Amino acid sequence: MYNKSQLKEIIEKAISGLRYETEAEKLTEPVKYVLSIGGKRVRPLLTLMTCNLFSDKIDEAIMPATGIEVFHNFTLVHDDIMDNAPVRRGLPTVFKKWDLNQAVLSGDVMAFIANDCFLQAPANSISSVLRIYNKAAIEVCMGQQQDMDFETATAITQDAYLRMIELKTAVLIASAARIGAVIGGAMDQDSDLIYEFGRSLGLAFQLQDDLLDVYGDYKVFGKIQGGDILANKKTYLYVIASEKANKVQLNKLRKLFTTKEIDPDKKVREVMGLYDELNIKDPAESLIRKYFDKAFECLDNTAVHAGRKDELTAMASSLIGRGN
Ligand code: IPE
Ligand code: IPE
Ligand code: MG
Ligand code: MG
Ligand code: MG
Repeated sequence: MYNKSQLKEIIEKAISGLRYETEAEKLTEPVKYVLSIGGKRVRPLLTLMTCNLFSDKIDEAIMPATGIEVFHNFTLVHDDIMDNAPVRRGLPTVFKKWDLNQAVLSGDVMAFIANDCFLQAPANSISSVLRIYNKAAIEVCMGQQQDMDFETATAITQDAYLRMIELKTAVLIASAARIGAVIGGAMDQDSDLIYEFGRSLGLAFQLQDDLLDVYGDYKVFGKIQGGDILANKKTYLYVIASEKANKVQLNKLRKLFTTKEIDPDKKVREVMGLYDELNIKDPAESLIRKYFDKAFECLDNTAVHAGRKDELTAMASSLIGRGN
């Protein structure tokens, strides 16, 4: 069995081993930049760990795992344009450091570089891997569209919010996990459980991201504080606040999320004031816990010797209460 630091090293090596066309340096410079500035590498770690659950051989999962990370980074490059986010991982985002067109195009090329990685999946699982990946990629786009639509919507139900984050975030984490399991030779029932494990983990992960956007330490989190508030994002915090608010508070909240004539710092301050008043941190934290518990339950039910699950359990546990 491999441990987390060995797997992280394998992933970093595979990422830095990617070769690009040098003919258009302007196109690949942002790709190299975004792939080299770190990130937690949660998704490729999951792929390698779930593969390792079922097989001692993980080599054939390395390029598909790398493909997942490249695709994830592509979604971040485009997401930062859509969210008008200036900083990620403590550094300027691609569209700020270069420009909009370069960010669009270098994001596009990353999606195709990811395809190249997936084409290196082992022959006996390549069609399954591509199917899982492609479905997830389309769902991420659907989720991102819903996320954008919600910016101008006022009343969002918890169910609608949860479906949106399932699509934009959880399905990729779930698919990263399933791809590893499939390459490792898991049977359908275990592959489904591993997908469910990743889905619950992904829901908890995005709920945490929403919370960190407001309450995180931006030096650790690496993204600006209140970015979601400034972009009028209907996060879980907003949904819960709307449910708990009295009439006066609800009017204030909705006004803050629609008015354009307000100083950005004041907007973040006032929304945070309302969130605190309504104590939305507690319900958010308990829902996060609920999804983590669900994830561990799925992993427990997977038909693999318990000892083989230790690394994966530790990795998932390390995400509880994460700071970035
Ligand atoms: C950020 O993902 C986007 C979300 C789904 C919240 P990560 O938090 O995994 O980002 P990096 O890759 O570690 O920077
Ligand atoms: C992440 O959503 C979803 C995708 C990038 C597909 P966010 O917009 O919340 O992610 P961050 O906070 O910018 O990393
Ligand atoms: Mg964003
Ligand atoms: Mg976004
Ligand atoms: Mg976010």
